Formats: sequence, structure tokens, C-alpha cells
Amino acid sequence: MSIDIRGKWALVTGSSRGIGREIACGLAAKGCNVVLHGRLREHNASLADDLGKVVKVAVIAAELSVEAEVDRLIADAQAASGGIDVLFNNAAIMTPFRQDYATVTADDYRRSFEVNVIAPIRITHGLLPRMIARKFGRIVQVTSGIRDQPELMAYAASKAALDKFVRDTVIRLRDTGVTMNLLDPGWLRTDLGGPNAPNAVESVMPGALVPALIENDVQATWFSAQEYAR
Ligand SMILES: NC(=O)c1ccc[n+]([C@@H]2O[C@H](COP(=O)([O-])OP(=O)(O)OC[C@H]3O[C@@H](n4cnc5c(N)ncnc54)[C@H](OP(=O)(O)O)[C@@H]3O)[C@@H](O)[C@H]2O)c1
Repeated sequence: MSIDIRGKWALVTGSSRGIGREIACGLAAKGCNVVLHGRLREHNASLADDLGKVVKVAVIAAELSVEAEVDRLIADAQAASGGIDVLFNNAAIMTPFRQDYATVTADDYRRSFEVNVIAPIRITHGLLPRMIARKFGRIVQVTSGIRDQPELMAYAASKAALDKFVRDTVIRLRDTGVTMNLLDPGWLRTDLGGPNAPNAVESVMPGALVPALIENDVQATWFSAQEYAR
């Protein structure tokens, strides 16, 4: 059983390309209004034109490694929507592949944790109080099934930290009407996934929407989009 999200508002970070773009289109097809996001407004211009024919759309630019820009994103998303109901923390950066895994730098860790961990946690915390007050929210943290690649440990560790955030936070979401779950999109051909990935970006649908459409009280569950691929 899926819930009806017609007329609700979603924020999709990193909607300008790749997986986030697919998710934004999928939500709009369900009648959900969308706040689009990327580092520059222009990156979402054509998508906003397309989706604006179907649902209400707002566009916000914010660099997620900058704390003040994250704060502004939260405030502007709430103001544009009157309250975000569905959050996809999708934007992330991949760190450089370090041929010698022992040379992953401190800066690799700092950058990936800023964008992939601290920003999504702060966005979640910024939007949660209003979701709880309204007794409805669907929060989806986009994670990764990456494993056994120490050359990419700064990225892998950032996703593990996000998973830990979800698993330890949901205890406070019981009976609130707000769910928070994890989405593993699979390895897809995007700018981040690279050209050698086995799956087309379109294969993230319809699975990516499953954690946004669930009934209450499904918490901290790992959803693999590829299990739903057609
Ligand atoms: N692709 C895969 O194989 C794969 C596998 C597992 C997990 N994932 C996860 O899926 C999610 C989406 O990945 P993707 O492959 O679609 O990535 P992508 O094609 O590289 O797109 C990244 C998106 O994030 C935004 N973004 C990047 N850096 C940002 C920053 N510093 N501040 C604000 N926004 C930023 C980009 O927006 P602008 O360029 O417009 O700023 C873009 O919309 C990520 O969480 C990733 O870790 C992907």
C-alpha cells in the first residue's frame, strides 16, 4: 500500500542531474510539488520548466559545504513550500580514487563529511520540527552499498556515518508520523557513478520512491532501488 503524496511538497537535494533528477521527476509524476536544488539555479532551469507544467516548483541554489548556505536552503525551502513533507537528501560528492589506499587525505574526509554527512543531518534537523508538528514526514537519506574499496574510504565512511545517523535517530521518531529510511540506488551511470556502472540512471525508478510512499512506522530500513527495477 502506497500513500498519496498529491499536493504535498518535497525537497530533493542535488536534483539538477543524475539520480536526484529522476527522483524529482518521479515525485512530480505522483502530483507532489518539488523544491529543486543544486549549486547554481541555472542547473535546475530546464527541469523547473518541465515540472512546472505539472506541479508547483521552487528552485534553490546552495553549496552544501557552506554552513550558512545550508541554513538558507532550509529557511527558503520552508518559506517556498509552507512546510516540506518529503525530504530526499540525495546530493553528495565522490572523493578521488586514491590508487594507494593509504594516501586518502584528511581533506578528502573533511570535504565528504561536510557535504555527505553534516549537510544532510542539518537539513533533516532543520525540517523535522515542522514535520513532527504536522504529524507527517517522509525522510529518505540516499546512501551507498559501496564496500571493499579502501581507495574511496572518505566517501564510504561518509555514507556509513549517514547510516548510523538514521539508525540511532529513529528511536525519537516513534509515533510521530515521520519516517526516516535509507535508499541505496545501486551503481548507476551518472557523473558520480561513472561510465562503467552496470545500470542506467533510469533504473533507480520506481524503487527510489518506495521509502517516500510507505505507511507510518517503517523506520531505518535499507531500501535497494535495484530490487524494484523493471
Ligand atoms: N551513481 C551511483 O552509482 C551511486 C551509487 C550509490 C549511491 N549514490 C548516491 O546517490 C546520490 C546521487 O548521486 P548521483 O550519481 O546522481 O550524483 P551526480 O550525478 O554527481 O549528481 C550530484 C548532485 O548533487 C549536487 N551536488 C554535488 N555537490 C554539491 C555540493 N557541494 N553542494 C550542493 N549540491 C551538490 C549536484 O548539483 P550541481 O552540480 O547542480 O551543483 C547534482 O545535482 C548521492 O548521494 C550518491 O552518493 C550514487
